[in-house]
Amino acid sequence: MEDYKMFIGGKWVDAASGERFTSINPATGGPVGTAPRGGAEDVERAVREAKRAFGAWKDIDADERGRFLLRVASLIRERSEHLARLLATESGHYIKKARALVEGTARVFEFHAGLADKVRGDVIPVPGERISFTRLEPLGVTAHIVPWNYPLFVMARSCAPALALGNTVVVKPSEETPLITLELAKVIREAGVPDGVFNVVTGYGPEAGAPLASHPDVEGITFTGSVETGKEVMRMASGHVAKVCLELGGKTPLIVFPDAEVEQAVEAALQGILSRAGQVCIATSRLLVHRELHGRFVKELAGRMEEVRLGDPLDEDTQMGPIISKRQLDKIAQYVDSGVQEGAKLVTGGRQPEDPALRRGFYYLPTLLDEVGPYMKVAQDEIFGPVLCVIPWEEEERMLETANGVRYGLAASVWTRDIKKALRTARKLEAGVVFVNDWVAEYVQAPHGGYKESGVLRENGLECIVNYTRVKNTVVQLKERPEETWWDAPL
Ligand code: NAI
Ligand code: MG
Repeated sequence: MEDYKMFIGGKWVDAASGERFTSINPATGGPVGTAPRGGAEDVERAVREAKRAFGAWKDIDADERGRFLLRVASLIRERSEHLARLLATESGHYIKKARALVEGTARVFEFHAGLADKVRGDVIPVPGERISFTRLEPLGVTAHIVPWNYPLFVMARSCAPALALGNTVVVKPSEETPLITLELAKVIREAGVPDGVFNVVTGYGPEAGAPLASHPDVEGITFTGSVETGKEVMRMASGHVAKVCLELGGKTPLIVFPDAEVEQAVEAALQGILSRAGQVCIATSRLLVHRELHGRFVKELAGRMEEVRLGDPLDEDTQMGPIISKRQLDKIAQYVDSGVQEGAKLVTGGRQPEDPALRRGFYYLPTLLDEVGPYMKVAQDEIFGPVLCVIPWEEEERMLETANGVRYGLAASVWTRDIKKALRTARKLEAGVVFVNDWVAEYVQAPHGGYKESGVLRENGLECIVNYTRVKNTVVQLKERPEETWWDAPL
């Protein structure tokens, strides 16, 4: 067990209060280590350091900034097994997936390393002999409030572009996963990133996250988490008119037409709800399957769900790890109960496993709820657990109403062999990402983000550039002596 320090201005420090909190291993309920319980004073210090570092960081040649990120990526690879094991232990990702996520995190740094010197402005044809040209300048100090479900990857997808484009960064990791974040801070320090450019304040949301989001010197805030906290962050940002980028989860429908490739669609439905035990923003938590295939689907899915190997995330054979915390576990159980009370049929799961070894941790069985009504609570809210709600349909128009009939709009998945039908459906879906006959996934090259209450702005791809830059338009008169006098000049 290690007592970690947080990372501010290039130094490893304790909280000003001297207090600490414990990070829990969700597979056992036991401690992994402790982290400083940061508060407003620590945030103040981190923002001050980030502000001080900004001047020099933004003026470094862009390709040089990119090279820092390449070094980060290569150090992540050098220490990938160590990082993957801590990620598995602290957050409950099974080891095979944890390794893939560490590799994915390295890729994110590489992508944005390459982006650093390719971001440029425009020359604009304004009237007269003038040149109007834009420069994309960094914002300054950016805050990154990160959840626990993908602590490395989600942090990287916003911090890497922010750094590449010349911003400085203050990260507030989730209180569930502070240690893996501080391990990444070690990597960033070793890569030689100058002091104050990257800072981490660990602590609880209201104590450390709120002062960060409200800080007047924070120019940009990227938040991933719940809708409620996202709205709160938006309100805090309004106090100093900061730019906000929000990714707030979803209620992704997986839509199966009668002509779908059934075996592949079943496999995708399993991946979409069981990957990371359903604690995924784009989890396909609603299965909108046509009545013709409904019986076959439910039977197949239930059988496959009962074979899933739950276990210690460090065990090479484990296919599904625990839920992050007792609180989340209880929340999932309450949702399943509410579904049954509202008339859904519990086909399998709906409880914790019997195995006493798993009972120590926060495990929940893969769960299938059938004959779910589109307006039941389980069909409307993000459960964030391995709970699949089956909503059978007969009529396409009604199915689309159901698919769009939630406050979320992050992603959707469409299964049909008819390409025209697939693309017609994709057009009608209110979702930021639509997958056709494929897994739900996230690629650093392509935009990710939501419609409606699932969020604003986009992460990944070239779309993320707008999150971490602001436009400066410069207008230059080229004539030695313009004919206009002040009263016939524009405006
Ligand atoms: P949360 O939204 O409360 O936490 C996310 C981050 O925000 C954490 O770092 C937390 O410390 C911080 N935070 C909390 N309160 C804050 C405040 N007042 N000001 C500033 N920062 C604050 O989410 P939580 O409680 O961990 O999970 C609750 C639900 O949120 C989940 O059941 C799930 O439905 C959803 N969620 C969605 C995620 C996504 O990927 N979109 C990720 C994690 C959770
Ligand atoms: Mg933990």
